[in-house]
Amino acid sequence: MKLKIAVLAGDGIGPEVTNEATSILRAVAEFGGHDFSFVPLLIGGVAITEAGTPLPTATLDAALECDAVLLGAVGDNKFNSLTPDKRPEAGLLQIRQALGGFANLRPSIAYKSLAASSPLRPEVTEGVDMLFVRELLGGLYFGAPREWDREKEVAINTMRYTKAEVVRVARIAFELASKRRKKVTSVDKANVLEVSQLWRAAVSEVAADYPDVTLEHQLVDSMAMHIMNTPRNFDVVLTENLFGDILSDEAGVITGSLGMLPSATIGGAVNLYEPVHGSAPDIAGQGKANPLGAILTAAMILRHSAGLEQDAAAIETAVVKVLDAGYRTSDIARGQTVGQTPVTTHEMGRLVHEALAQSI
Ligand code: NAD
Ligand code: IPM
Ligand code: MN
Repeated sequence: MKLKIAVLAGDGIGPEVTNEATSILRAVAEFGGHDFSFVPLLIGGVAITEAGTPLPTATLDAALECDAVLLGAVGDNKFNSLTPDKRPEAGLLQIRQALGGFANLRPSIAYKSLAASSPLRPEVTEGVDMLFVRELLGGLYFGAPREWDREKEVAINTMRYTKAEVVRVARIAFELASKRRKKVTSVDKANVLEVSQLWRAAVSEVAADYPDVTLEHQLVDSMAMHIMNTPRNFDVVLTENLFGDILSDEAGVITGSLGMLPSATIGGAVNLYEPVHGSAPDIAGQGKANPLGAILTAAMILRHSAGLEQDAAAIETAVVKVLDAGYRTSDIARGQTVGQTPVTTHEMGRLVHEALAQSI
């Protein structure tokens, strides 16, 4: 199997975690006799510094030539005073739009051996296996008009969806649910927003084509509470861009850390893979970052862009083995046996590599 992967490491802990993810992919290639190549490209703050823009044309052109794009994280406090269109994050939004993937899959799993890492009680998190399907190209992130009129001291962002945009992401949610526990929870704010009323109607229409999948609607405010209270009740959670951004970070609490969460964005010209977390400036450069979200993201590349389901599952099994053996980066070290010191980013990557070598 031949696979050309664009690697956009980005800022902060981005390069640290993507290094571990690409090492694991190299190992899979070696064990399985695959030909994986990696194309390093600039994005984010590092691209502003080196090329004057958060998404250089060269990056976009090269990424569009690849089979998959792996992104670490963007964002650097030194650009905090810039307007949104000039910040590192703008590069990420631009590449998302250019690649065209509209369905961002964000699984949230409660790993048995990480039960103590979550502040939630084990009986609440036990067995949780949720999949967020976050719409990624619409809503407040991209709706026009958007402006900040400094003179009038007024700023505008627009939450906008067309029915077609809702239908296409809803179809993906229902397809995925039909292969899982057959339940879709669609999250909106239909008691207040017209956009949400359109969303709800469009999702209900799609549901009619999937009679074996149960659809429920939840309002986003109470959903934020239900996710913490009864997370086991949820299978596929379908929602718009900003609600999905917020709820998926919240779901990191169930797994134990934001650093554990992977994602894949499908439906466009080239799939985009990114851990859910950001550049974590508070721990960048210290070897403290948890690379497992990025490594599990690498597994999603193999699943969704290469059809290498067995290799994807082997990576996921290796991660579980390392967690079962008690190894922890500091973000998931809560409840760890006294005396055990957390492992570094690189050590965690090496441990997964070792576990993979044994199982593949
Ligand atoms: P963040 O996700 O970077 O960090 C939130 C908290 O989680 C921090 O305490 C951090 O140390 C911790 N954390 C995150 N990832 C971790 C990991 N792998 N291992 C251990 N701990 C981890 O969110 P933030 O602090 O709100 O944002 C920082 C910057 O990242 C901002 O510029 C933001 O715009 C950007 N961001 C980028 C992406 C992306 O590139 N996909 C995603 C989210 C945030
Ligand atoms: C994420 C991030 C991004 C988002 C930012 C950095 C643009 O928070 O991927 O979750 O809001 O989508
Ligand atoms: Mn986010």
